[in-house]
Amino acid sequence: MIELNAVTKSYCRGADEVAALQSTTLTIGGNDFTAIVGPSGSGKSTMLCMIGGMLAPTSGQINVDGESLYDQSVAQRCQFRNERVGFVFQSFNLVPWLTAVENVQLPLSIRGTSAKEQRQRAESLLARFGLETRLQHRPSELSAGQQQRVALARTLVTNPQLILADEPTGNLDPDSRDLVLQTFAELHADGRAVVLVTHDHNVSTAAQRVLRIEEGQVCEQSLGESDVAA
Ligand SMILES: Nc1ncnc2c1ncn2[C@@H]1O[C@H](COP(=O)(O)OP(=O)(O)OP(=O)(O)O)[C@@H](O)[C@H]1O
Ligand SMILES: [Mg+2]
Repeated sequence: MIELNAVTKSYCRGADEVAALQSTTLTIGGNDFTAIVGPSGSGKSTMLCMIGGMLAPTSGQINVDGESLYDQSVAQRCQFRNERVGFVFQSFNLVPWLTAVENVQLPLSIRGTSAKEQRQRAESLLARFGLETRLQHRPSELSAGQQQRVALARTLVTNPQLILADEPTGNLDPDSRDLVLQTFAELHADGRAVVLVTHDHNVSTAAQRVLRIEEGQVCEQSLGESDVAA
């Protein structure tokens, strides 16, 4: 379970200060499927990065299973990220000099999984996302939608308990998007927590719960609200 208690985030650039997230208190259950929606620049990625242990709040507390994430040591927070969180970055963050299959293998390689198992798991996930003929391509040799699916495969290869995905379908055609959504639904049915940021109404309607952020203010949006419906 993730709890945000009066969490705020301001970015400072010289004398300028941007209030990216205003005081936010909410709870995300260990098996919730939550969508975060809102205009560009409203604070969605900021909130996701803070939940993922990658960005400390300016004030307030983020608890994961009762433990304050940012009161832990850096090593403990890294362990949390490595063992429990799968993060899909808005900008993919693939390693440019590694092939698609090597990118997906990477988190398993860091964990010391055998080379054979790394390869099998990576290939099977890439095949699931329709990329079996692109295993040896480097990111620069893949389309944006293909890179997005490689990034998703890399996120899922370690079987994370908490999946945080920033616009995971932004570059996908409707068929690939439905495949990715089906994958998230299966992960949720399997007892995992999924939090995804999206601009796509089809994606947010797949979630059980929608949080809307506007100018750093978060509010719960009822699932029936017309601007969320497909
Ligand atoms: N490192 C930074 N330094 C200064 N300001 C920042 C920084 N990162 C983000 N911001 C500002 O914080 C606000 C929230 O940014 P954030 O990336 O969370 O928005 P977002 O909702 O994810 O937008 P988008 O839908 O375009 O991805 C924006 O106004 C942005 O300009
Ligand atoms: Mg963003």
